[in-house]
Amino acid sequence: MTNNLLKGKRGIIFGALNDMSIAWKVAERAVEEGAIITLTNTPVAVRMGTTEELGKKVNAQIIPADATNVADLENVFIKSQEILGGKIDFVLHSIGMSPNVRKKRTYDDLDYDMLQTTLDVSALSFHKMIQVAKKMDAISDGGSIVALSYVAAQRTFFGYNDMADAKSLLESIARSFGYIYGREKNVRINTISQSPTLTTAGSGVKGMDDLMDFSDRMAPLGNASADECANYCIVMFSDLTKKVTMQNLFHDGGFSSMGMSLRAMNQYSEGLEKFKNKDGKIIYG
Ligand SMILES: NC(=O)c1ccc[n+]([C@@H]2O[C@H](COP(=O)([O-])OP(=O)(O)OC[C@H]3O[C@@H](n4cnc5c(N)ncnc54)[C@H](O)[C@@H]3O)[C@@H](O)[C@H]2O)c1
Repeated sequence: MTNNLLKGKRGIIFGALNDMSIAWKVAERAVEEGAIITLTNTPVAVRMGTTEELGKKVNAQIIPADATNVADLENVFIKSQEILGGKIDFVLHSIGMSPNVRKKRTYDDLDYDMLQTTLDVSALSFHKMIQVAKKMDAISDGGSIVALSYVAAQRTFFGYNDMADAKSLLESIARSFGYIYGREKNVRINTISQSPTLTTAGSGVKGMDDLMDFSDRMAPLGNASADECANYCIVMFSDLTKKVTMQNLFHDGGFSSMGMSLRAMNQYSEGLEKFKNKDGKIIYG
């Protein structure tokens, strides 16, 4: 179904790796809604992933860039404006990566060089892309910038590790830059806090299947899918949300407002046997 919500708009989508990526779904929906877009991801991801397939499907050129590299980001905004024929109306930041999570370093045994990388890739890249865009005046008046976040920015979740700190920083950048860019150019900056979703990045989170089951039982509307997240992004890019800025918008079926649900309680009452060690003590991880 299309409502031409993005008719005539130009966008840049960061982070489509494969057809499970949330960014992939957003790219497809944005084009369905009438936008023209460019795609960008790391040179390695472009080589190894299937971004080219998406490019063909949505008629979008791919501009390889490491989102932690300012020169690369400048190139993305210069080229995108050339290719698309004008200033950019919307940007999606759909980027996350933690070497500590990948290497299974726990939060009380973080490698600090890896932590720097987590923060740089998953949060500072958001600041960098906004600063680059603003200095180049590459975003049109009333444009919209969205990054994807997770509720671990506000509440502690087992296994989310240093990505929780990165998401807190990401959401803070949306507020701090949202003030400045809104005041000067009417540009909106928001984060969408998405349900756990089975993607390449998502599957790196410890206990992802159980986490997804838990949040699905807790949320009155159940987990939000990647397709549903894409729909929300489209609304945020559209002219229907012109006065929404500096917000962290939960897209999680109601999970973040719940304390305990009947469905989760029922599961809990089935017992904790499987979480006990040989001495009968519950292992909390
Ligand atoms: N999957 C979930 O459960 C979930 C839940 C909430 C929020 N999110 C967020 O959604 C976003 C997209 O993740 P996804 O779940 O679609 O997984 P994904 O693995 O498909 O996407 C992550 C992307 O980040 C890109 N990336 C990594 N390092 C980069 C760099 N230096 N420069 C540019 N790009 C880089 C990867 O190549 C990949 O395309 C992330 O911010 C993630 O934290 C995911």
